[in-house]
Amino acid sequence: MKWKKHLYTLKPYQPGKPIEDVKREFGLTEIVKLASNENPYGYSPKVKKVLKETDWQLALYPDGGAVNLREAVSSFWGVNANQLIFGNGSDNLIQMITKALLAPGVNTVMATGTFSQYSHNAILEQAEIREVPHVNGRHDLEGMLAQIDENTAIVWLCSPNNPTGEYIRQEELIQFLDKVPDDVLVVFDAAYYEYVAADDYPALIPLISRYKNVIILHTFSKIYGIASLRVGYGIADETIIRMLEPTREPFNVNSVAQRAAIEAISDQSFIEECKQRNREGLQAFYQFCEKHQLSYYPSQGNFILMDTGYKGNEVFHYLLERGVIVRSGEALGFPTSIRVTVGSDEENALVLKELEGFLQARIGETAK
Ligand SMILES: Cc1ncc(COP(=O)(O)O)c(C=O)c1O
Repeated sequence: MKWKKHLYTLKPYQPGKPIEDVKREFGLTEIVKLASNENPYGYSPKVKKVLKETDWQLALYPDGGAVNLREAVSSFWGVNANQLIFGNGSDNLIQMITKALLAPGVNTVMATGTFSQYSHNAILEQAEIREVPHVNGRHDLEGMLAQIDENTAIVWLCSPNNPTGEYIRQEELIQFLDKVPDDVLVVFDAAYYEYVAADDYPALIPLISRYKNVIILHTFSKIYGIASLRVGYGIADETIIRMLEPTREPFNVNSVAQRAAIEAISDQSFIEECKQRNREGLQAFYQFCEKHQLSYYPSQGNFILMDTGYKGNEVFHYLLERGVIVRSGEALGFPTSIRVTVGSDEENALVLKELEGFLQARIGETAK
């Protein structure tokens, strides 16, 4: 058959092993999954209530314009309704953006060691990918600027960056945006925005009116805790939204997701509490790293990339056999690291206990 040749270079997304399979394989009763940066506290009680009490009318198509959700999100951010676009997760927005702008002969600039879907979708559109090595887990914005030419259509910024947790500072972002040509779309993926505690993280909404070539991506999958329902959105000047809209599937966000997201965004005290607990959880990881002299990046997200000095896959398997699922850094471009989602206090204590066991076993082996 006449498959696009680029499809041969892509692997399908590898989902983690189902929890039940891991239990059976290793004879475990409890599994702790800290691999996908989900919220260990789930979602707001307001979401729970509406999920339980609504008659969902599932025979009907959802509202393709997401009118009520649009209203809720636009008033939350103080932007116009026509400055928003909704996706079946922000993955879906990444797809729409690449579909709208990338093609053979066009290039796209991103950091190495960043969210994989930017390059995955660029390959599908047969565009050239220009990756700029990160510097200490941070995007090298000057290096990225140097890669932009007249054939560049998109620059991807991920901040906080998955998997390093590092972030782009306000001042460096402005300096960067001032130099990016007007006809290059800058995608600022802020999937972990709500976890950020740094004072010099950029103010995102003012960017939209100042730069007509910037889109900000947000998701309800992370701190809002409804990853399974799939809702993300983009905020940009209406001229960008107008061009992206025709690439959107008409009913891409389902009714349950739309309604749940409205409740989720209305409960900011839940978000504040999750953010606080996440900051406390991160401290436990930092202390562990310092005690064992492991290098790590300070994180503005709900995950931490820790360099154990041993192969990521080896550490991953050791932890898996003991019922803890993390991400090996090998596939993420950090071969001796693991990325661990910050869980509840008990989950964090468990992963750190097992990791300590791993390190001691290895030190014991080298001492023999
Ligand atoms: C940086 C980043 N962007 C986007 C996504 C996609 O999120 P979703 O499609 O669930 O909104 C993720 C998920 O891990 C992510 O880490």
